[in-house]
Amino acid sequence: MTSSKKFALVTGGSRRIGAAICRNLHNVGIDIMIHYRNSKEDAITLQKELNNIREDSACIVQANLLEFESYEYIIKEMISSFGNIDFLINNASSFYPTKIGDISSGHWEDLISTNLKAPLFLSQFAYPYLKKNKGAIVNITDARISDPKKGYTVYSIAKSGLENLTKSLAKDLGPDIRVNAVAPGAIIWPEIDSQYGRHSQEFDKKYRDEVINQSILKRLGEPADIAKAVEFLLLNAPFVTGETINIDGGIH
Ligand SMILES: NC(=O)c1ccc[n+]([C@@H]2O[C@H](COP(=O)([O-])OP(=O)(O)OC[C@H]3O[C@@H](n4cnc5c(N)ncnc54)[C@H](OP(=O)(O)O)[C@@H]3O)[C@@H](O)[C@H]2O)c1
Repeated sequence: MTSSKKFALVTGGSRRIGAAICRNLHNVGIDIMIHYRNSKEDAITLQKELNNIREDSACIVQANLLEFESYEYIIKEMISSFGNIDFLINNASSFYPTKIGDISSGHWEDLISTNLKAPLFLSQFAYPYLKKNKGAIVNITDARISDPKKGYTVYSIAKSGLENLTKSLAKDLGPDIRVNAVAPGAIIWPEIDSQYGRHSQEFDKKYRDEVINQSILKRLGEPADIAKAVEFLLLNAPFVTGETINIDGGIH
């Protein structure tokens, strides 16, 4: 007898937008593998929250997406925990400026690996299971990539690559697997420091007000807006593949 249960892997799923995606998919009955790198406490807290709602419905896996071995490891952990994978949500990301003249191979490795390389190889390792289950992939891109933000060259290249990867994988993995993307606009402001880079003071109040004013809806979005779009593409869009939905208050 085949189980009707569905299983999703959300990378960078312990906090912020990733956690909203986990909660929302869990709420519609999907069991969740929460991937995290550093945010162990957040991952454990979220896992407990979800397991309190439904027993044994959430697991966690720690891995640094800069390590090539991590891709196969994450999928193996998913299979040993749940026995299957139906949905892959490539949400984990690094994001910071890279000034021409100061760009290092470390910046390149970090921004390209998290935003582009990991989604490709996770998809490849998940492919046999996704194909068997007629599963789906959603990549989280960025609404600004059609008009890249000045000073963010490597991040912009990586996210543009991810949008192209979405279309390429839709062709290569179809008709069994649908592959789509959600492109957020301003949802939650970035944290000022990251391991490899630092946002400039441009993320101050004046800049934030400017960004909001450039949107049609004149406000920030919410993580739940992204989570609902992911749910739509995974569960309610059987004739949609290779598509990117901008969830950005009209900013693009
Ligand atoms: N926030 C926005 O308004 C906005 C706007 C446009 C696009 N987006 C996109 O939406 C998605 C979610 O946004 P967000 O702001 O919630 O993301 P975020 O907080 O910047 O990053 C999400 C997670 O990515 C994980 N991560 C980073 N580097 C990693 C690595 N080397 N290995 C493994 N995991 C790594 C981190 O996990 P740990 O904390 O466990 O280390 C982090 O919590 C991202 O793809 C982002 O580019 C967001």
